[in-house]
Amino acid sequence: MGQTLTEKILDDHLVEGELETGEEIGIEIDQVLTQDTTGTMVWLQFEAMGLDEVQTEIAAQYCDHQTYQFDFKNTDDHRFLRSAAGTYGAHFSRPGNGICHNVHRENFAAPGKTLLGSDSHTPTPGGIGELAIGSGGIDVTVAMGGAPYYIEMPEIVSVRLEGELPEWATAKDVILELLRRLSVKGGVGKILEYTGPGVETLTAPERMTITNMGTELGATTSIFPTDEQTEDYLERVGRGEEYVELQPDDDAEYDDEIVVDLSDLEPLIAQPSMPDKVVPVSEVEGESVEQVMVGSCTNGGYEDILPVAKMLEGRETSMETETIVAPGSKQASEMLAREGWVAEMMAAGVNFSEATCGACIGIGHVPASDSVSLRTFNRNFEGRSGIEDDNVYLCSPEVAAAAALKGEIIDPRNLADELGDLEAPGVELPEEYDGSKTDLISPDEAVDDELIKGPNIGDVPLKDQLGSEIEGEALLKMADNITTDHIIPATQDILMYRSNVPKLSEFTLSRVDDTFAQRALDADGGFLVAGENYGQGSSREHAALCPMYLGIEGVLAQSFARIHRANLFNFGIIPLTIDEDTYESIDQGDEIEIVDDVYEAVTSGQEEFTVRVGDEEYTATLDASERERDILAAGGKLAWTKEQAEGGS
Ligand code: F3S
Repeated sequence: MGQTLTEKILDDHLVEGELETGEEIGIEIDQVLTQDTTGTMVWLQFEAMGLDEVQTEIAAQYCDHQTYQFDFKNTDDHRFLRSAAGTYGAHFSRPGNGICHNVHRENFAAPGKTLLGSDSHTPTPGGIGELAIGSGGIDVTVAMGGAPYYIEMPEIVSVRLEGELPEWATAKDVILELLRRLSVKGGVGKILEYTGPGVETLTAPERMTITNMGTELGATTSIFPTDEQTEDYLERVGRGEEYVELQPDDDAEYDDEIVVDLSDLEPLIAQPSMPDKVVPVSEVEGESVEQVMVGSCTNGGYEDILPVAKMLEGRETSMETETIVAPGSKQASEMLAREGWVAEMMAAGVNFSEATCGACIGIGHVPASDSVSLRTFNRNFEGRSGIEDDNVYLCSPEVAAAAALKGEIIDPRNLADELGDLEAPGVELPEEYDGSKTDLISPDEAVDDELIKGPNIGDVPLKDQLGSEIEGEALLKMADNITTDHIIPATQDILMYRSNVPKLSEFTLSRVDDTFAQRALDADGGFLVAGENYGQGSSREHAALCPMYLGIEGVLAQSFARIHRANLFNFGIIPLTIDEDTYESIDQGDEIEIVDDVYEAVTSGQEEFTVRVGDEEYTATLDASERERDILAAGGKLAWTKEQAEGGS
């Protein structure tokens, strides 16, 4: 039987296990990336493990999430990250140089390589055939030290593209259509491999918009085969020699197939406040829009901003709408500026902003209360924009530009009819991506050779080895789809403590219950209880680290999101799955006890645990590999890795 493209790349990198669905495999990692909110912990952990030098082909540290240095804590973090990159041999991308995924795809991403990144949208370069996976920071630390990355072999699903996108429909509409059909849980435990004749009609940047937002489906990653479009893109970014042709075998077998006819697509929009609440734009036409934001790692490329510039050229944006354009990389800004497009947009009323994640996580450009903000981003979870009563819609740059002109949501096809002279801008790549590279510092150019730590940079908290008894209060009971944004919000006032775990922990789950952190500390341990898909969203390992610091020993949930589940193991918190009846039977404040000898049960491979809640007993399941059990028993991945290095168990 032939192999899928995913299997070919995994086979090339396999160091442990077999490529059978559900089996744990260990793969060699060629490239790693990290960003400023997760990077400080990555390097502190690298230091705590006593490692000397990065072992992967490429390691890159980006400063993109919080680039506005209006508090010394951020600047201290950036300085620490630069010093860590210099000390250990990573590339360093300075604040303002752009979003990690955009800068990485322009400079390092390559077909056939594996990439592990401590950011959930790491799968972006799957659009040019790199097998790219998002993970917790500690997994990146360990991979940077040269160890394999372990993962349960996902199902491989073929997403067969047919036809060709009609005018005004875009790559964003392809992924919104998949979210409409499959929901934010539809890709869990799966790798989406794009196939079919429609693939060749999409340029590499369009493919990367699709693979970027595969994360919103919960997919482990998404990948496209490589072809002339890939080669063309690599040549334009000046790395044509890195092209390799990668295709699945003709007789490859997939676990499932989804067919999308591109010709049937139309402009779509995700309504507040979930990326899968997708409807045709025409269904929500007329809603007035106070803010339009173009940018992010999904739609912040040169090719995404250019259509907006073309649509706005010689026109004026609505007086009622604030329109902000924040490209994904400084290179894109520079090229658009040299070509005169920045001036055109500014003349049309655009507020041109620096290349940063910023507004995507509520840092800057926070919408007015209870107003509509239309964004080309990938996530619209409630409160993520920086205000709780937000109404964030997600759409393509073309739909965003149409709203900027009209002041309300409008299908761009209808706006074109109204205006008479508005043409669909289509997709256009630059001759050459030729921005200057002054903000990307290679290991050879490193300016520091020792770590520089400011007062806000603390040590990494450690957990003791797993004990035999776990009991405590159900400190918080939560509903389905709790995101890592709920657990540790990423807003500026909170994020600046990302290197100071005791302080950051005060904000744990404050968006659900602002008394939680203090109650957890007072209780000296306890449980969290949640419904389905607990921990969806970003890869933020603080969402496990801070509960661990507060003494949380177990999470009982109906299901867990992939990266967060791994993070719970990594920080020594036991993730137990419960059924709906058990979930319904537990009330916040109940006393919970795991009846089994927990250490013994975890290390012996026991799957079913007896959980006593008051006078009743229920069954909870620990679905974990041997390695995950060892990590849990050791008290987390840092302790486990040290054990391994010292020749322990
Ligand atoms: Fe940044 Fe938002 Fe992407 S935080 S990495 S632009 S999802």
